[in-house]
Amino acid sequence: MSLPFPLLTADEAAALIQDRDIIGFSGFTPAGAAKSIPRALAARARAEHEAGRPFKVGVITGASTGPSLDGELAKAEAVLFRTPYQADPELRKRINKGEVQFFDMHLSMLPQAVRYGFLGKMKWAVVEACEVYPGGEIVLTTSVGASPTFCGTAEKVIIELNRHHSPALRGLHDIYEPFDPPRRREIPLFDVRDRIGSPVVKIDPSRIVGIVETNQADECGSFELPNEAVLRIGHNVAEFLASERKRGTIPSSFLPIQSGVGDIANAVLGAMGEHPGIPPFQMYSEVLQDAVFKLLQSGKLTFASTTAVTVSPEMNAEFTRNLDFYRSRIVMRPQEISNHPEVVRRLGIISINAAIEADLFGNINSTHVLGKSLMNGIGGSGDFTRNAFISIFVCPSLQKNGRISTIVPLVSHADHSEHSVQVIITDQGIADLRGKSPHERAELITERCAHPDFRDALHAYVERTKDGQTPQTLGEAFAFHQHYMRTGDMRGVTFS
Ligand code: COA
Repeated sequence: MSLPFPLLTADEAAALIQDRDIIGFSGFTPAGAAKSIPRALAARARAEHEAGRPFKVGVITGASTGPSLDGELAKAEAVLFRTPYQADPELRKRINKGEVQFFDMHLSMLPQAVRYGFLGKMKWAVVEACEVYPGGEIVLTTSVGASPTFCGTAEKVIIELNRHHSPALRGLHDIYEPFDPPRRREIPLFDVRDRIGSPVVKIDPSRIVGIVETNQADECGSFELPNEAVLRIGHNVAEFLASERKRGTIPSSFLPIQSGVGDIANAVLGAMGEHPGIPPFQMYSEVLQDAVFKLLQSGKLTFASTTAVTVSPEMNAEFTRNLDFYRSRIVMRPQEISNHPEVVRRLGIISINAAIEADLFGNINSTHVLGKSLMNGIGGSGDFTRNAFISIFVCPSLQKNGRISTIVPLVSHADHSEHSVQVIITDQGIADLRGKSPHERAELITERCAHPDFRDALHAYVERTKDGQTPQTLGEAFAFHQHYMRTGDMRGVTFS
């Protein structure tokens, strides 16, 4: 089949990219991530390094990607800087060693930061598509992410035309970019189902340098079977939402759900699907995982808006087989719209995200272990949490076989403040923080969310200080963390 733009090999495409170029790669999770050009670029970096020449590039994506992109470029020591999010073990290792500069960003803000030029001049957009037209329009694949902005901003565009994805994906995407200030208007999206843009990304054809043909599945893994604690978290979230609906704080027709990524999110949606007190509902989220597809099949979920479809290989096969069914039930938007604070606030989203740790006052750490080591990044959790109708954080009460309490006196890194966090739910129970002072919050979180192994120590911490709006003792606020660093276990921490 003839192509409307020059056909390149991945190596030829990689050879065009120079040391210190800034590249916007498609990908939001491994879904729709560029795959063959980053691998070729990693090989080029290795060759350059062996020849004694420097070679590193600035890597901007929608969010995390797959091993062919973040993993390969990290292993090749080819990453100059990285933003806005990552979840790759190789890259994480190098970030935590200080070898890669990573800056953590709210995902809704990344596209405008690129357009505003805050991140430097973007030289290349490398974007996966399932169809390319002679006029420069492309159909994206399993994610939209920030690709429309990369295509509109970068000096030059290279397309990875991935034959693994069906061109019948056309019609799932809704591409819309707001004007920049001072011409910004309202985002005209008033219902989860609204379509406000185009099914294709329109690129100035003079900027398309070439096409690299590929045939490769998204590098998404399968999900683990949830353990007992994760199942209890799912059950507690479903119970909480059903009881809020019963008492009338959530409309009986329900509100759209945003749910984070990972096994807990899958378990939460599974439990919501089974709960008789939760009616058929909609999602306005950034990622759709396997559980969402099961809910769509059962009819419990009536519509889902997202920026990425991140499913196991088995679910991807089902998605591709039944595209007509899903096309009428799913819309894929740019992350700037799927996570837009204005839309999140307007639609009344109920946000459910996972925490690394929560403190007694409702502050949340989503990103760092022991205040120091990056796990993944804030992702979209801040976009949704700060603007949600009800913002919920979930985590198991214990980590690392009971050696770590996720409920601590003060978070070792703050991503979401007590002002944005309304409800904390663990396997132990539910702490509804709305309308509660810091003293009341501390009691509630200790009794309802902390594991019994740590409740006495948490009470002892708070009881040390009776005065002040917030019962905090700065000299001992990190006693749990310090005890863990000394002994490898938070259990046994005491207050003098
Ligand atoms: N101390 C030390 N390690 C901790 C910890 C803590 N308090 N809490 C979690 N961890 C470790 C776990 O042990 C696990 O480590 P492992 O990979 O070595 O097993 C890892 O962090 C992941 O935790 P897990 O319990 O498996 O949960 P998860 O996969 O759901 O991830 C977050 C939890 C918070 C890391 C993840 O949700 C995240 O990155 N969130 C930020 C971005 C976000 O919210 N995105 C969605 C927005 S739409």
